[in-house]
Amino acid sequence: MQLLKEKILSEGQALSEDILKVDSFLNHQMDPLLMKEIGKEFAKRFEQKEITKVLTIESSGIGPGLMAALVLEVPLIFARKRKSLTLTNDLVTASVHSFTKQETNTITVSNKYIEAGDKVLIIDDFLAVGQAARGLVDICSQVGADVVGIGIVIEKAFQSGGKDLREQGFHVESLAKIAELKFGEITFVEEKEGAPINV
Ligand code: G4P
Repeated sequence: MQLLKEKILSEGQALSEDILKVDSFLNHQMDPLLMKEIGKEFAKRFEQKEITKVLTIESSGIGPGLMAALVLEVPLIFARKRKSLTLTNDLVTASVHSFTKQETNTITVSNKYIEAGDKVLIIDDFLAVGQAARGLVDICSQVGADVVGIGIVIEKAFQSGGKDLREQGFHVESLAKIAELKFGEITFVEEKEGAPINV
């Protein structure tokens, strides 16, 4: 997605060879016009899938997830990482270990909102090793819902998550794929040629 790649190049910062900082439009301040375009792009890429729910994880998945849900005209559900005072019954949980943050969270969704027969589109802001996506897939399989797609804003293609999830048969669409973050430079994967280029 060209607009997103331009935004990453103009405002993103490679903090190290592994971490891309995009606080100005995705992880802290959010750019609503960019989010609107992201929502439309996800809806276009998954339009054949008869999606009934969009599922994400708090907090940074909520912006792009809500915009996709708005265009698809289906509800958005976000898995919680912290205990809610009001969300107490009929909970489905999964364990998500973050290699980036070196912490494990129990994520929670009420089975009132994701049910057997739902066709679920999972959305998240980043895909690294794929633990968050796997946790959301786990929740869907516990309630008998079908994961029909996984939409990612920024995939770090040099980490294993995207490859693993595609090998497991999931339809993964990433709007920007980072090939590497070397020497402070951000390099995208060139989708058509399969070779990395600087955009
Ligand atoms: P994984 O889900 O693919 O396994 O990723 P990982 O555990 O490594 O990521 C844990 C958290 O770190 C996630 O946010 C993820 O979005 C974020 N993250 C991973 N790599 C990057 C990166 O290069 N840049 C940025 N900006 N974030 C990254 P989270 O804990 O769910 O935080 P939030 O959604 O509350 O912001």
